[in-house]
Amino acid sequence: MKLSIIGGAGTLGAAVAFRLCQNKQVNELCLIDVNEPLLMNHIMDLQNAYPEKTIYKGSYEDLTGSSIVIITAGVPNRNDVKSRTEFLEGNIMLFNEFGKYIKKYSESAFIITASNPVDVLNYYLYREFGFKKSQLLGYTVNDSRRLEHSIRKVMSISEEKDVFSPVIGEHGNTQVPLFSLTQVNGKPFSIDADKQIAIREEITNWFIDFNRLNINRTTGWATASGIGKIIDGITNEEKIETVGSAILEGEYGINDISIGVPVSISLNGIESIQDWKLSNEELKHFRQSAETIRHLIEPYILKEV
Ligand SMILES: NC(=O)c1ccc[n+]([C@@H]2O[C@H](COP(=O)([O-])OP(=O)(O)OC[C@H]3O[C@@H](n4cnc5c(N)ncnc54)[C@H](O)[C@@H]3O)[C@@H](O)[C@H]2O)c1
Repeated sequence: MKLSIIGGAGTLGAAVAFRLCQNKQVNELCLIDVNEPLLMNHIMDLQNAYPEKTIYKGSYEDLTGSSIVIITAGVPNRNDVKSRTEFLEGNIMLFNEFGKYIKKYSESAFIITASNPVDVLNYYLYREFGFKKSQLLGYTVNDSRRLEHSIRKVMSISEEKDVFSPVIGEHGNTQVPLFSLTQVNGKPFSIDADKQIAIREEITNWFIDFNRLNINRTTGWATASGIGKIIDGITNEEKIETVGSAILEGEYGINDISIGVPVSISLNGIESIQDWKLSNEELKHFRQSAETIRHLIEPYILKEV
C-alpha cells in the first residue's frame, strides 16, 4: 500500500514517516517537501533503517496511487503564538497548492490533515476543491491524549489503568473536554467541578511549560504516534472509532464547518459521525466552539460557488 506525506521533512512529517515504516501494510512511502536537503537526509536514513520499504522523494505527480495522503506541511512553527489560528494566513496559501495537486493526481485518496489550524484547513479542502466530506479528516487526537494525561495526574491514576476522556470541538482554544464521558478501565469515572478546574489548569500549564522552552518545535512524537495508530487500524481493514475534525451536515445541529467530533473511519475515509450524548453544558460549549470556527472560516472561504 502506498501512502504519501506532504511536509515529509518537517518535525511531524519525518516522525510520521518513521512511524509508518513500522506498519506492515505500508510498502511504499512518497515524501514531498520543499526543503529537499533535509528531506533527502531523512529519506537516506530511513532507507537504511527499513530496506524492505520503497521510500523516496516525490513530486506532486508521484501522489498518484496513494491510498492516504497525509498533510503535515506548514509555515515555520513558533512557540510565541497565542493560538494556532496565527498560522492560518500562511498555511491557506500552501493548501491552495496542495488541494490543486491532490485533486489532479490522487483525487480519491483519504486525506488526513494535521497542519494548523486543522479545522479550517480541512474545511478549505472541501469547499475549495470539492473533495467528498468523507475523504477529509483533520487530526485532533492530541487534545484527548493531553486531557487523559492531566486526569491521570490530578486524580492520581496509575499507569497500568486505562483512561478514556475525549475532547471534541475546535482543535484550539475553545476545545470541549467531555468529562461526562470519562472512563477508567472501561467504567464511568466521575470528576467533580473543582477537580475539573484543576485538570484544565494542568493542561494550560502543560502548554505554558512546553512553549517556554522556546525551541519552536511542535509535538512530533505524540502526533506521529496518534496518526500512526489511526493508520494501523484502518490499513488492517478495520473500521475504527476516534475523534477528528470532520465536515458536518446537521450533526449536533451544526452545518457546513469542520470541527472535532467522534467518527468511525476506514481506509475509505469517514464512514459515519457518531451521535454521542453530551451534557447540556458540553453541547452549549461545542456550539460556541463551532461559532469560533465559523468566524475563522468566513473571511477566507465562505463565498458563493
Ligand atoms: N493537528 C495536530 O495535532 C498537530 C500536532 C503537531 C503539529 N501540527 C501542525 O503540523 C504542521 C507541521 O508542524 P511541524 O512541527 O512538522 O513543522 P515544521 O516546520 O517542522 O515542518 C513543516 C514542513 O513543511 C514544509 N513545507 C513548507 N511549505 C511547503 C510546501 N509548499 N510544500 C511542501 N512542504 C512544505 C517545510 O519545508 C517543513 O519541512 C504545523 O502546522 C503544526 O501546527 C499539528
